[in-house]
Amino acid sequence: MTKIISINPEKIDNEALMPAVFALKNGGLCAFPTETVYGLGANAFDAGAISKIYKAKNRPADNPLIVHIAEFEQMGELVCEVPEAAHRLARRFWGGPLTLILKRSEKLPPEVSAGLDTVAVRLPSHPAATALIRLCGFPIAAPSANLSGRPSPTAAEHVIKDLDGRADVIIDGGNAFYGIESTVLDLTVSPPAILRPGAVTHEELSELLGEVVYGSGEGAPKSPGMKYRHYAPNAPVFIVQSDNAADMINSLADEKTGILSFDAEAAAFKKGIVLEAGKTPQEYAAHMFFCLRRFDELGVNKIFAIAPGGGGISEAVRNRLYKAAGGNVI
Ligand code: TXA
Ligand code: MG
Repeated sequence: MTKIISINPEKIDNEALMPAVFALKNGGLCAFPTETVYGLGANAFDAGAISKIYKAKNRPADNPLIVHIAEFEQMGELVCEVPEAAHRLARRFWGGPLTLILKRSEKLPPEVSAGLDTVAVRLPSHPAATALIRLCGFPIAAPSANLSGRPSPTAAEHVIKDLDGRADVIIDGGNAFYGIESTVLDLTVSPPAILRPGAVTHEELSELLGEVVYGSGEGAPKSPGMKYRHYAPNAPVFIVQSDNAADMINSLADEKTGILSFDAEAAAFKKGIVLEAGKTPQEYAAHMFFCLRRFDELGVNKIFAIAPGGGGISEAVRNRLYKAAGGNVI
């Protein structure tokens, strides 16, 4: 039985979080909101609890987890050393949507990192997440709280759909703010490498650090999670990059076709079910996973997604859409 707790992120009630704390202290699983997407958490120091995460999500055993902390000082017990760049990044971007890859401390069970000698660490800004970590007194390992391969959950209802009966507790804290997972930055290589783009952008990182590159996605991926088809709804997804996207979609769509676009473009489509993802790339990012799940509920036969162009968070949106589309671009 999964217990569902509703909390108000504006006014965290520690008492209400107690069943979640109890579950985590006893080696159980708790899904909780973060500012990016919902996470499925376990005590990062409990190898048994970590293995439950993999099982609950059907997550491939070679895909490591992110460890969430509430104070910068908690890094000390997770990593071998804290490089100067990590201090600078933390001061600027934590709490927030940035994950740092560092050398893993021997104190952490290897299962957290799927056996890698590195560990991913993030200090979220969501008050429910940090309150939960503080009340537990240990860092919380948490991947996104979806079944493996499904779109990441940006609302508690998505978590309930995927994980009811698989998590001990689900904390409902409303909609995730960014709606897209954190930027993953590898600090064990020089220059630092972005393994997954997110709301903290390449521009922002290179402003602070100097040269920042993109980690290789192909061959032997440094971020194992990026090699899988991912973020995917049931219907096949096609990214439309053509200059005359509307004409192309109008020629291929039928009544049961899903179309994901910016608000301003929506009127150009003659057939199909159009979901408007917003006016800005930020809004698009925040609504994208929600829309992909909505297309499932509507039973569409295929999905055409018009990806935003340009840099900044649009890069992260395109990255997720490419994964959802399994590389299908028309
Ligand atoms: O915003 C987020 O990052 C959310 C919230 C819950 O914090 N979490 C999240 O976790 O997206 P997950 O497990 O869905 O994605 C973690 C990504 C995967 O691509 C994984 O391969 C990569 O981070 N990762 C984790 N540990 C790593 C490591 N030691 N080295 C390289 N990549 C790592
Ligand atoms: Mg995930």
